[in-house]
Amino acid sequence: PLVSMRQLLDHAAEHGYALPAFNVNNLEQIQAIMAAADEVNAPVIMQASAGARKYAGEPFLRHLIEAAVESYPHLPVVMHQDHGQSPAVCIAAMRSGFTSVMMDGSLEEDGKSVASYDYNVAVSRRVVEMAHAVGVTVEAELGVLGSLETMKGDKEDGHGADGMMTREQLLTDPEQAADFVRQTQCDALAIAIGTSHGAYKFSKKPTGDILSIGRIKEIHARIPNTHLVMHGSSSVPQDLLAEIREFGGDMRETYGVPVEEIQEGIKHGVRKVNIDTDLRLAMTGAIRRYLVENPSKFDPRDFLKPARAAAQAVCKARFLAFGCEGMA
Ligand code: G3H
Ligand code: 13P
Ligand code: NA
Ligand code: ZN
Repeated sequence: PLVSMRQLLDHAAEHGYALPAFNVNNLEQIQAIMAAADEVNAPVIMQASAGARKYAGEPFLRHLIEAAVESYPHLPVVMHQDHGQSPAVCIAAMRSGFTSVMMDGSLEEDGKSVASYDYNVAVSRRVVEMAHAVGVTVEAELGVLGSLETMKGDKEDGHGADGMMTREQLLTDPEQAADFVRQTQCDALAIAIGTSHGAYKFSKKPTGDILSIGRIKEIHARIPNTHLVMHGSSSVPQDLLAEIREFGGDMRETYGVPVEEIQEGIKHGVRKVNIDTDLRLAMTGAIRRYLVENPSKFDPRDFLKPARAAAQAVCKARFLAFGCEGMA
């Protein structure tokens, strides 16, 4: 059934695991996630970005996710709005049946200028008031996603803040987080710890100075009852990069968030882990390989099948690594 995100996050906190939240845009991604969840009996969070709605259209996304629920009636599924840039976007999502919304007030409505703290509190609180009245969960965000190596906001990869940031902006402050949660009453809090969206997160395997799991611990110690959310948490597996390169792709050296670091975060309050890029890499590698190895094939089903299987394998690995097995 479709469930609210709060229910799943509370269960995750009680049992000490985290849910991967996968971004979805099309049929094959949704099928991959559901098949993986079914294999290991895991609860599911599927999230749609503004870009997803632009690509597929809101009715297609909604009906595809509803089709997933109908096909797997035994699995709890959350339909979550990722990075809502204004209360209006969140309201539209609630009206169309989303059971959870993210009000990302860390940025202004343009999605690239860093917002003031007061603005963030005000919009997040407003969305919480409306959402809670109809049983919808709210994720808010405090801090700016971006690189502690380059000090740039993650606009580079198409999302988030534009330009140079300070270390203070790129690392969520525990004391401010406590005030923010108290004022907004959000159900879950996305925090900045040095991750950014997309494939190009780190120029080397990240160490504690550029990926601050330590900051998660400090925040969790201050607000132990708040569910923490990690964005930009694809692991960017080197074998997927290698496959893409082997079959004609051009991707430069890059590193993601190691699964072991996410597991450390899960010990300290992380309950939702956002993953989009890893599924993109898996699907692209599989499609490139298939088309190179089978140059005479032209039925999209032929290359979408291995792409779907590759995405499913990534999903299954994350469900297992984050402790979701048997939790549905
Ligand atoms: O939040 C970022 C997700 O990876 C969604 O990306 O805006 O390209 O759909 P997108
Ligand atoms: P990745 O780009 O690391 O997959 O992050 C996705 C995300 O945070 C969506 O909100
Ligand atoms: Na952000
Ligand atoms: Zn995100």
